[in-house]
Amino acid sequence: MKPYRTAVIGCGAVSKNHGKALVNSPYAEVAYAVDIDRRKAQLFSETYGGKVLEDYRQLFEVDDVDVVHIVTPHHTHPQIAIDCLQHGLDVFCEKPLAILPTDARRMIQVAKEQGRRLGVCFQNRLNQASVEAKELIDSKVYGDIVSAMVLVTWDRNGAYYSESPWRGTYKNEGGGTLINQSIHTLDLLDYLCGGVTELAGVDAKLRESDAYEVEDSGMFYAKLAGGGVAVGYCTNCYPKSKQCTVEIHLTYATLTVKQSGLIIEKSDGTLEVHKAEVATGEKSEWGLSHGLLIKEFYHSLQENTPFICDAQTGLAAIEMVQAIQHSKGRMLKIQRTL
Ligand SMILES: NC(=O)c1ccc[n+]([C@@H]2O[C@H](COP(=O)([O-])OP(=O)(O)OC[C@H]3O[C@@H](n4cnc5c(N)ncnc54)[C@H](O)[C@@H]3O)[C@@H](O)[C@H]2O)c1
Repeated sequence: MKPYRTAVIGCGAVSKNHGKALVNSPYAEVAYAVDIDRRKAQLFSETYGGKVLEDYRQLFEVDDVDVVHIVTPHHTHPQIAIDCLQHGLDVFCEKPLAILPTDARRMIQVAKEQGRRLGVCFQNRLNQASVEAKELIDSKVYGDIVSAMVLVTWDRNGAYYSESPWRGTYKNEGGGTLINQSIHTLDLLDYLCGGVTELAGVDAKLRESDAYEVEDSGMFYAKLAGGGVAVGYCTNCYPKSKQCTVEIHLTYATLTVKQSGLIIEKSDGTLEVHKAEVATGEKSEWGLSHGLLIKEFYHSLQENTPFICDAQTGLAAIEMVQAIQHSKGRMLKIQRTL
């Protein structure tokens, strides 16, 4: 099989996770490294390969690219994705698909019209604990979902926001902890629990820092599709980035889902701990699953099978972010249709 020829658009902090996954993939190869900052594209290319370009629209003048990875600031995702889809390319987009649900819907609509793939990078769905929890929940071996809890305590201080000019602004990032960091865990709640249907929340900027204008904390109360309820607390004000937690209370057991593994506390008092490998070092909170998800994306392209992180399945997380930012405590419906 001929590998898919891929362009990585945006060669900043997380692009190395894409580069590593692509060079280790039997399905794909890096054909282009694209960044408006040529120096960054050059650095990426030296490690992972690819011809250096400064403008992604140059990709439309060549006929040797099949897929793009969008790894750019949030506000740029819709335009880049729509342009690429309309030029016949399949797209794997970093989270969030877009800042606004209306833009995300437009992207999904264009992908449908063009018959192209649009995937979103919620890699934590493939963490070992998430996969095991999803199987246990869907099998109903421990009964129905009664309630769930989300906890995100990360450290994203002024220095982090000063690293990249787009971060920390509503216009270009679309928020703080909610749309950038906690969106992974909001997505996991939605994915594992079969859908959040309504949500009321509040957000705030609690840390004194001039480096950002966006919220650094939020909390919510939500209703789940099966009738259970969920609560959550998300903050970037903790001095250390801890592993995120999703706790799911079933009729006969409580599941605690973390990057480090799954804990099952059964109602008969017994405890099972299924440990998983954890990432170490800087940004270990991103986890180890970028490679797994990217491999899965290309496998589903190759086999023409459904992709676990198809864009439409990532719509609810953006709606949840919006609801926490804007509901001011009123229950809002989470819409997942186009
Ligand atoms: N899935 C994860 O765990 C994870 C982790 C970190 C970041 N992200 C996401 O990845 C994306 C990028 O984040 P980052 O931290 O790498 O940001 P970054 O600021 O470090 O890098 C972004 C890069 O995009 C380039 N860029 C900006 N506009 C461009 C354009 N129009 N065309 C080409 N290049 C352009 C910038 O020059 C920069 O090099 C964001 O959507 C972010 O939320 C995901």
